[in-house]
Amino acid sequence: RPATNFRYQLHSSAWKATALSPTKRIQREIPGSYGLPLLGSISDRFNYFYFQGTEEFFRSRAEKYQSTVFRVNMPPGPPFFPDPRVIVLLDQQSFPALFDVSKVSKRDVFTGTYKPSADFNGGYRILSYLDADEPRHAQIKAFCFDMLKSRAKSIVPGMDFAACRCFDRWEKELRAKQAPELVSSIEEICLAFLTRALMDHDATGASGLSTETIKKWLAPQIAPVALLDAIPPPIMELLHVFPLPFAVVKKDYEAIVSYFSAHSTALLDLAATHGVPRDEALHNLIFMVCFNTFGGLIRLLPEVVQRVHESGVAKELSNEVAAAVRDAGGRLTARSIDGMPLLHSVVYECLRFQPPVPFQYARARQDMVIESHKEAFRVKKGEMLCGFQPFATRDGVVFDRPNEFLPRRFMGDDGAKLLKYVLWSNGPQTENPSVDNKHCAGKDFIVLVTRLFLAEFFLRYESFQLDGQSIKSLSRRSPST
Ligand code: HEM
Repeated sequence: RPATNFRYQLHSSAWKATALSPTKRIQREIPGSYGLPLLGSISDRFNYFYFQGTEEFFRSRAEKYQSTVFRVNMPPGPPFFPDPRVIVLLDQQSFPALFDVSKVSKRDVFTGTYKPSADFNGGYRILSYLDADEPRHAQIKAFCFDMLKSRAKSIVPGMDFAACRCFDRWEKELRAKQAPELVSSIEEICLAFLTRALMDHDATGASGLSTETIKKWLAPQIAPVALLDAIPPPIMELLHVFPLPFAVVKKDYEAIVSYFSAHSTALLDLAATHGVPRDEALHNLIFMVCFNTFGGLIRLLPEVVQRVHESGVAKELSNEVAAAVRDAGGRLTARSIDGMPLLHSVVYECLRFQPPVPFQYARARQDMVIESHKEAFRVKKGEMLCGFQPFATRDGVVFDRPNEFLPRRFMGDDGAKLLKYVLWSNGPQTENPSVDNKHCAGKDFIVLVTRLFLAEFFLRYESFQLDGQSIKSLSRRSPST
């Protein structure tokens, strides 16, 4: 379910403070407190989930301390999860400290202050949990890059296949006076697209791998930091202090492993050329496809549809897509997508406005100094940093009208200058992932796939209406336009 439209912007002088020159920055103790052992973490966790909610939790503390850097406890908590104490980073000046792998370690921090058992991953420490200085990191990441490169030609046809099949179904359902459900439809598109594009197979066919199986495997891994409306708070709280054992999803993971074992021979051969043993490569591949990609896309794409709907930009997008495809000889290709600047800007604005993965964590490798817009803070070796990205990407110091969704924000030369502040991929949009950093290996792939999904949609439709999470109507483009 897409997140509701939070107002992530801070109103107070915490944003308004103009940047001082580095020499004038005041060094002070990081404000905030962890409270009493156990009680402090319970109080912060209850405020975070139930009494204040995520946005107010961070906003109220930033305003109280007049600082976008402060100390607080983050879920999950003791007694069964490790140390919840973190230093929060909320602004564009401090957030990039998380990307500097020479000063911070990213070992076992992918999900936050806790790491799910390796049993969920065939007993391996998966790439996303490896620090950049661990030798396996470069090998597996190189495999990931190579996999995406080797499948480049299948991306456009894969999305065409998955999206058009879903659009046909939507139209059939609408004719039968049913309202197609947006989120589950997008989940189906994602799974069909990914397995088709990466493995020349359609998992949503008779072979038996379903979106539900994948989500069941994902759930216990993220439950310690999740809040689900469907689960009563007392049970939810148990999940925030007690890790669910792998046994509860063992059968589901076995089904996933069996599917990938049967259909990824060529990709595992590729992994072997990077020195990654087949079994370790298999579990990494599953994580890349099902956690990194499927888990990310099912948050991003419904959000994109909602934003496009609310911002009233559908007709213009449809015209832009149709014109670019016509100019490219009538076919939607990776190249024809380049002639769609509005579509491109909309995708970046979605990634800025509601980053699909809102938290990034890292641990200080050494004593270091972290600067906010107005101050500098000393951080000690071993302390945990926690960036809450939606505040940083709605930082009023670098973005005009930061809390508004502006479809054209990233168009033209001035728009391009803002891309360095788009941070969804664990690094600035203007920089590239490599085997030496922890920048998301799928950064360019995801931008392309999101543009392709929208282009497929607007090649067929010129407008649409949503009713909450359901599709109310779709209006087809006439073939002559
Ligand atoms: C890392 C976001 C899709 C592969 C990350 C991180 C983020 C992220 C925030 C850094 C996490 C951290 O360490 O704090 C996303 C989102 C995606 C997406 C939102 C989809 C919407 C993909 C895809 C792939 C991928 C398509 C590749 C198939 C990875 C890998 C890492 C990573 C391998 C770890 C990088 C490393 O260890 O150096 N992703 N990602 N991701 N992502 Fe993505």
